[in-house]
Amino acid sequence: MSQTPLTPTVLVIFGAAGDLAWRKLVPALYCLSAEGWLPEKFAVIGVDRKEMAKEEYLRHLRTGVESFCRRKLDDASWTSFTSSLVQYHCGDLSHPDTFGVLAKAIEELRQQWGGVANPVFYLATAPSLIEPIAQGLGKVGLGKRVPGSRIVVEKPFGRDLASAQTLNRSLGEVFEEKQIFRIDHYLGKETVQNILALRFGNAWFEPIWDRRYIDYVQITVAETIGVEQRGGYYERAGALRDMVQNHLFQLLCTVAMEPPVSFDAEEVRNKKTDVLHAIRPFPTEAVHRLAVRGQYGAGWVRGERVPAYRNEPNVSPDSRVETFVALKVFVDNWRWQDVPFYLRTGKRMAQRISQIVISLRPVPHQAFPEIAVDQWHPNRMILNIQPQESILLNFQAKRPGPTIRLSPVDLRFSYRDAFKSETPEAYETLLRDVILGDGTLFMRADQVEAAWSLVDPILQVWESNPPTDFPNYSAGSWGPEAAQVLIARDGRSWFESPEDGE
Ligand code: BG6
Repeated sequence: MSQTPLTPTVLVIFGAAGDLAWRKLVPALYCLSAEGWLPEKFAVIGVDRKEMAKEEYLRHLRTGVESFCRRKLDDASWTSFTSSLVQYHCGDLSHPDTFGVLAKAIEELRQQWGGVANPVFYLATAPSLIEPIAQGLGKVGLGKRVPGSRIVVEKPFGRDLASAQTLNRSLGEVFEEKQIFRIDHYLGKETVQNILALRFGNAWFEPIWDRRYIDYVQITVAETIGVEQRGGYYERAGALRDMVQNHLFQLLCTVAMEPPVSFDAEEVRNKKTDVLHAIRPFPTEAVHRLAVRGQYGAGWVRGERVPAYRNEPNVSPDSRVETFVALKVFVDNWRWQDVPFYLRTGKRMAQRISQIVISLRPVPHQAFPEIAVDQWHPNRMILNIQPQESILLNFQAKRPGPTIRLSPVDLRFSYRDAFKSETPEAYETLLRDVILGDGTLFMRADQVEAAWSLVDPILQVWESNPPTDFPNYSAGSWGPEAAQVLIARDGRSWFESPEDGE
């Protein structure tokens, strides 16, 4: 249950009949409602160009909740969520009339609620609609002039530095920066937030969390799914834009940031932005050494034959778009100088797993005889983000027996076992934070731009040197050979998780 009364809020979802609203937003809102996390005075206004009567819209939403919500739908909670809360407006998302109708509907709620109604505008739409919608809102006075109003923007936020800057400028004409919530849903994941708890709520780890003890860091976000029905979008994106510029860099920032002075949104985001600024830029001539791209061919994933990326719907048969990226990244500051961060992400990989591996340096002196340490490997901390939500500390222990022989063992913390409660979906956390006006888990304009400025040179090199070997990995594998070479050159290998993936 919420502790403090929340300000009355009207959540306007643009693109309310679309996939994101159906799969993620409404199931998350339903959970928040059923568990008492929404403001007492709360309404959802769905806006979409698709003609639908309210009843039909609600039936559509219900199937989404039944299919994707972590809570089983119960009729009483569904009725209380939908009956008074949800309205549906059919309108062209960039037409001025739509905004007039909205302004009126919000005003009516404000009056019903005794003069307070914070409007939150959630853009679950194509990126091309961000600017027209923001401008439409500005024209009817729903931007900066309404102090509690907020706009929530989904990724992709631009497709390079220049387009992100343009978008930031045009949003900035209508909303103050603190009213703009740029979503990176990885930041809403419990286990990602737990990295902050682990690092800054404990005395164990921070003293060794630097270049003196940490040898290298690996961040893997591997998916078994392919591009599914999103070929149209993905053909213009690719894995570098879709995953690295946002999710993987944010994971890196969470691991590498300095301790914040407080959990104030600006303070946390300043510390993360410092990391982005410290990442060593990729010089054009070094891109081939530090970055690997791949595209999946046909293969087998979990016993099923799956097609090559080039044979997916809405994908060009000679597409050069990458579905896999591996990078070697350095963070040039006192804490991390010369510690490599190896990042990789891909679709149609062998296992679905998001994981961070922190590998420590060897002990300074090995006193045990060689035979005692034949199984020795460096101490590691493994942060499993999904599908397992756990933390493993891996260290050496003496094997039982009359002689000294060491073997690696694990200390394991599992979310499920320790807390016995269900983990909220990222969108539940993020939606609630938007309602509270807490921007900690959202991307600030300068963060987004700093991240783009890092990937821009790679994009440019890749665009001017089209790949000649695509597809270069089979679906169901761990990516192209070159990704193994990237790390093997340093005498290391990608960590193979003994944890169950999916
Ligand atoms: C999205 C990407 O941001 O993240 C998708 O656009 C990707 O391509 C998805 O599949 C992965 O998110 P999750 O939460 O399933 O790891």
